[in-house]
Amino acid sequence: MSQIIIDKKNCTRCNICATVCVMNIIDKDADSGYPTIPPEKVDYCFKCGHCEAFCPQKVLTLDFLPCEKINYTSSEARIDPQKLALYIKQRRSVRHFKSKPVEKELIASIIDVARYAASGGNGQPVKWLVIHNPQEVKQIAGLTIDWMRIIQNTSHPLAGYVSVLITAWDNGVDLICHNAPHLLFAHTPTDPIDDPTEAIIALTHVDIASPAFGIGTCWAGFVKMALDAYKPLKDLLLIPEGRNAACPMLFGYSSYKVTSIPRRNPIDITWR
Ligand SMILES: Cc1cc2nc3c(=O)[nH]c(=O)nc-3n(C[C@H](O)[C@H](O)[C@H](O)COP(=O)(O)O)c2cc1C
Repeated sequence: MSQIIIDKKNCTRCNICATVCVMNIIDKDADSGYPTIPPEKVDYCFKCGHCEAFCPQKVLTLDFLPCEKINYTSSEARIDPQKLALYIKQRRSVRHFKSKPVEKELIASIIDVARYAASGGNGQPVKWLVIHNPQEVKQIAGLTIDWMRIIQNTSHPLAGYVSVLITAWDNGVDLICHNAPHLLFAHTPTDPIDDPTEAIIALTHVDIASPAFGIGTCWAGFVKMALDAYKPLKDLLLIPEGRNAACPMLFGYSSYKVTSIPRRNPIDITWR
């Protein structure tokens, strides 16, 4: 069970931690104004560490694992192994985007990094679809919700989770595409083997490279599930015949800066 610990002396009560909380379980205390997790919501914390990672004052601790907070300065320019490890560890899923569009040239520069990704036999099978129009991203989120309404009262493994997403959508909150301005698809051939590995590797390059270009990303797993099952979404996206899209990626300029790195489970290695 995790709880947030706040250094009240230095907390400005901005409550950005509450805003970025994926499960929306951090409340602003009505009397003091400090962020707090009510006891009945504590079990819903999935320990992503975003409350810590986005705290501008670095005064919040999520107390579920031993503290191993990594502090860093932006003046470290050289990419030595430590610098690279730090850069990769500070990548976070971004779910709060500015409405300002990302320039197509910049998007192409980021995707260009993924051109050098590994592929079987250097086959380079990955092709890209960029949904640059924010209205179309919204439409994709809406169709994903339409699909969720269909599976809501079925035995689908996601059925128990979708009502909260549907209710949020009906109240004007987009938990599917998080009001992201853009959505990126990577697709690979289904023939001779339908294997998304190379698309996922390429997208992971984009995920890792994007922060260096000032861009935030978030994998859109719900959209992927809907795309695999719901014809109206397939018809809208028009992934070319004989090709399959991997889990797409939301991206845009982030509203908030990542200021620290959340804890993770200890590494689990079997040595032989
Ligand atoms: C395959 C995959 C699908 C995901 N789908 C979603 C999604 O639909 N919505 C969302 O908000 N986050 C999604 N995420 C982001 C995860 O929740 C996130 O990576 C995790 O909480 C760890 O946080 P971090 O990326 O900031 O380290 C997805 C991540 C992966 C790898």
